[in-house]
Amino acid sequence: MSEREPIGVVGAGWVGLVTAACFAELGHRVVVREIVPEKVESLRRGEVPIHEPELPELIERNRERLTFTTEMSELLDGPRLLFICVQTPPTYSGDADLSAVNRAVEEIGDPAGKALVMKSTVPVGTGRTIHRDAPDLAYVSCPEFLKEGTAVNDFLKPDRVVIGADPGEEWAADAVAGIYEPLGAPIVRTDLSSAEMIKLASNAYLATKISFINEIANVCDEVGADVTEVARGMGMDPRIGDKFLNAGLGFGGSCFPKDTQALKILAGNSGYHFQLLNSVIEVNELQKRRVMAKLSKHLDSLVGKRVALLGLAFKPDTDDMREASSLVLASRLEGEGATVVAFDPVAEQRARELLPKVDMAASAMETLDGADAAVLVTEWPEFAQLDWAEVAKRMSNPLLVDGRNFLDPVAVRAAGITYEAIGRPSVAAIRVAGGREAEQAER
Ligand code: UDX
Repeated sequence: MSEREPIGVVGAGWVGLVTAACFAELGHRVVVREIVPEKVESLRRGEVPIHEPELPELIERNRERLTFTTEMSELLDGPRLLFICVQTPPTYSGDADLSAVNRAVEEIGDPAGKALVMKSTVPVGTGRTIHRDAPDLAYVSCPEFLKEGTAVNDFLKPDRVVIGADPGEEWAADAVAGIYEPLGAPIVRTDLSSAEMIKLASNAYLATKISFINEIANVCDEVGADVTEVARGMGMDPRIGDKFLNAGLGFGGSCFPKDTQALKILAGNSGYHFQLLNSVIEVNELQKRRVMAKLSKHLDSLVGKRVALLGLAFKPDTDDMREASSLVLASRLEGEGATVVAFDPVAEQRARELLPKVDMAASAMETLDGADAAVLVTEWPEFAQLDWAEVAKRMSNPLLVDGRNFLDPVAVRAAGITYEAIGRPSVAAIRVAGGREAEQAER
């Protein structure tokens, strides 16, 4: 593999580590600057501080080409392309907190012949502001669209690569396009602000799609339709697409909640009231609580009840608990006087810090022991393999709310468990996959 140009990465979080490891895989020498010394030490020992499938193997395979350091000087010595991959969490006002970005930019200064490549999600206009204050340092916006749990694949097989730069910065935009060229994905070359907006709008649109299908599910609950069938029929229209039409307990994670809020505020700060996004965010918050109504339908009161949560992470294949629906649900249940017991295959450690009153069980089955109700919160594959007859025996009241429409209602019901879902008919009008034998709804 011919030697490719060296690359600098600032920040060893999800985006930073995946970006660094994937570019190393493509043959680049990559220097990763991380301010947390413990993180640098563990990465030098080959330990990866996040749960992301394939990433540890990728880092191990490319160790020769990866350097981890706390020293910005080490980064500035070599590479001309400096990828900024630091966190931009929400502030209390909901704006994006740019302090980590500004700190990195300040440390980098204004070196000519180098380009700052922004991968962190930033408000529209950030690039122009940074460039105004550091005119010799080229600035390119190159937003990242990777999803946690499939990040390596999403990076190496992107749907598109967006490269935003203003006139006069073509060399930097060309250089970035050059290092992405081996991936063979479409490259969207555009101006700085449009590139920044593509990122925010893409996340906000996906969040809108989820809130839309969740509202459809809520109507289905009232009229006896099955949202999974509705989504199947809708998704065949290529104008709609079958992705991100899974109704459930609402979206969480480090991106959708933050970016919808940030875009709403960005619009507000520029004098435009983004009504649709307002509703998307509101619907999502209410959706996290819909399970309560379904539980109350079967349990007069939650006082003294034992409720099992299957899954805590905001989605499967990650240990990330940021804005996870489980956080809201657990505190609502405790607020109603229930005892909450939970199991998550990988997020237990992070969950313990955030949910101190929740009993953490060692397995899904143990969680269900003596439970008066169970809620599937995260669609981990192992939960679909549970022995439902055994579950029915071990629960003190076999009631299951499938918060992700993930399980097979026919199999769960056949075991004598009362099954509720999100926008699926409450009793047995479920089409059997493949056979499509409709059964009479017994509403
Ligand atoms: C998201 C974007 O997908 C990604 O492109 C961007 O770079 C970062 O933000 P991520 O937050 O990792 O990625 O997770 P994603 O798979 O998008 O799921 C986000 C949330 O939406 C999760 O809570 C998930 O459970 C929920 N979701 C997703 C649904 O409720 N229904 C769906 O159909 C899809």
